[in-house]
Amino acid sequence: MSRIDKFKVSGNVFDQNTEKNLWELMTHHKIDGLESPIKIGKEANVFSALDKKGKRFAAKIYRISSCDFFKMRKYLEVDPRFKLKKSRKAIVEIWARREFSNLTKAYDNGVSVPKPIALFKNVIIMEFIGNKSNKEIPEASPLLKDAKPKNPEKFFNELIKNIKMLYGVNIIHGDLSEFNIINHKEKPIIIDLSHGMPINSNVSEEMLKRDIINISRYFKKQGLKINEDKLIQEIKKTKRCKNKK
Ligand SMILES: Nc1ncnc2c1ncn2[C@@H]1O[C@H](COP(=O)(O)OP(=O)(O)O)[C@@H](O)[C@H]1O
Ligand SMILES: [Mg+2]
Repeated sequence: MSRIDKFKVSGNVFDQNTEKNLWELMTHHKIDGLESPIKIGKEANVFSALDKKGKRFAAKIYRISSCDFFKMRKYLEVDPRFKLKKSRKAIVEIWARREFSNLTKAYDNGVSVPKPIALFKNVIIMEFIGNKSNKEIPEASPLLKDAKPKNPEKFFNELIKNIKMLYGVNIIHGDLSEFNIINHKEKPIIIDLSHGMPINSNVSEEMLKRDIINISRYFKKQGLKINEDKLIQEIKKTKRCKNKK
């Protein structure tokens, strides 16, 4: 029984399309199989996956049947980079493509995000943030919400540096909070870039503000003094960097 079959039997997690897409990624040697579920979320399920050499990756699998289609469509409508499609499957695939493309742009320009490895339709394979060898059981590094930084000021400054770098490559995260930041050995790693929007969309200003308010709320609780308006102005002064790739 393949690793995918095992999951099919245990929870009927995947629809037929997803099974085919996972199979495709396996035949192209991106992964050898799935290992175990990390998080079963609202829109996507995240699994750990292994390659043939036993190196661990994260597989984010967007659900086609039970996604919030209307929310996805609403967000994609205001992103000038993507043309809207009608079907549920097509919208989910564009959503995954958008996350992968944001991730690639961010990673290639030095932002602290998981390294993107492969995209096939509704499945994204990326670096696993946690222990990377099959010799140990998979353990993802904790989210910021579950692991307060030992030095909040240092962590916050590092995070702001990365938000500015994202801005510099024309991306506003749009769903930033302690739920989408991993505390990996006291360093922030930003995840879940599926909402990421270019600066020139008509919702970007509002999204940036929301991101900054969200993270400021968290860090103020850790004792930091933050002036959100000043911070937003500072971020907006970031020079756009010429894309390396
Ligand atoms: N690259 C990764 N490495 C380790 N764990 C991850 C990775 N990406 C996501 N996760 C885990 O899976 C959870 C869900 O991922 P996320 O991208 O935030 O999807 P969503 O919030 O849409 O369900 C995260 O909160 C995190 O715990
Ligand atoms: Mg998330």
